[in-house]
Amino acid sequence: MFASLKVKDAIADYFRENFGKRPSVDTDNPDIIINVHIFQDNCTLSIDSSGESLHKRGYRVKQGDAPLNEVLAAGMIYISGWLGNSDFMDPMCGSGTLPIEAAMIAQNIPPAKFRKEFAFQLWNDFDPLLWEKVTEPVEKREFRHKIYASDISGSNLLNAQTNARRALVFNKIQFACTDFKNLDIDLDNATIVTNPPYGERLKENDLDGLYAMIGERLKHQYAGNSAWILSSSIDSLKFVGLKPAQRIDLFNGALKCKFNNYRLFEGKEK
Ligand SMILES: C[S@@+](CC[C@H](N)C(=O)[O-])C[C@H]1O[C@@H](n2cnc3c(N)ncnc32)[C@H](O)[C@@H]1O
Repeated sequence: MFASLKVKDAIADYFRENFGKRPSVDTDNPDIIINVHIFQDNCTLSIDSSGESLHKRGYRVKQGDAPLNEVLAAGMIYISGWLGNSDFMDPMCGSGTLPIEAAMIAQNIPPAKFRKEFAFQLWNDFDPLLWEKVTEPVEKREFRHKIYASDISGSNLLNAQTNARRALVFNKIQFACTDFKNLDIDLDNATIVTNPPYGERLKENDLDGLYAMIGERLKHQYAGNSAWILSSSIDSLKFVGLKPAQRIDLFNGALKCKFNNYRLFEGKEK
C-alpha cells in the first residue's frame, strides 16, 4: 500500500500546485485507473485505457461451472484456422463460448460490439467524433455454413442459448441437448473445437472413459473433418486413442493445457 499511497499523494500534490485544488477520488469506482509497476530501481506509471477487462465481451449473462474465457475461445478458433469457410461444431459447448465466438468471427462482428465503454472515453482528450468514425459499422460478412452446439446438460444448453441471443447470433447456431455419444450430424470438411471436462472444476466419474468415447466418435462418425480438443488432463487425452497432428501448449487460466488437433481420416492416413 505504501507505494500506491506515495503515487496518489504525488498526483494530488501536482494538481494542487498547478490548479489550486486536489482531485477527488472515488475509490470504489474510479474514472481513471493508474497502474504502478516497480522493478528494481525503475517505477513505471501507466494509465489503463481499457477499464473493465477486455475478455469481457458483454454478451455473457449465464455461465456454467467451467466457462472458457472468451478471448481464449476466440484464440483457439483462430489457431484452428477456421474463419467461417466451412461448418463448425462444439459437441460439449457448456455456456456456448466457442460457438458464439465462432459465429462472431464468421460474420466479422467486432469483439467489443457489446461493450458499454472503455476507460479512455473518460479522458480529457477523448474525441467522440473520431471514435464514431473508427467504430462505424464494419462490413458484416455473410455466413453460409452451419454452426452446431450441443451439450449433455439441459441447463448448460439453456445458458448457451441465452448468451447467443444476447450476442445476436442465436439464429446462426443449431443447438441440441444430447450426449456426444448419440450425436449424429453429417459433417464434411468441418472444424470441431471442444473443451471437455478436465476433472478439475467439473467432476466426471469416468474421465478416461469419456475421452475414449470422444476418440471413438471422432474416428467413426466424424471422419473427413478436423477436430481440436483443449484439456489439462494429459493422461485422459491419451484415451482419445488418435495420433495428434499438432499439440499446442495453452493456458486456460492457471491450468496448463494441451490443444490437440486430430485430422480425421477413414482408415489410415497414407
Ligand atoms: C468444460 S465444460 C465446457 C465449457 C464451455 N467451453 C464454456 O465455455 O462454457 C464441459 C462441458 O461438457 C459437457 N459434457 C460432459 N460430458 C458430456 C457428454 N458425454 N456429451 C456432451 N456434453 C458433455 C458438460 O455438461 C460441460 O458443459
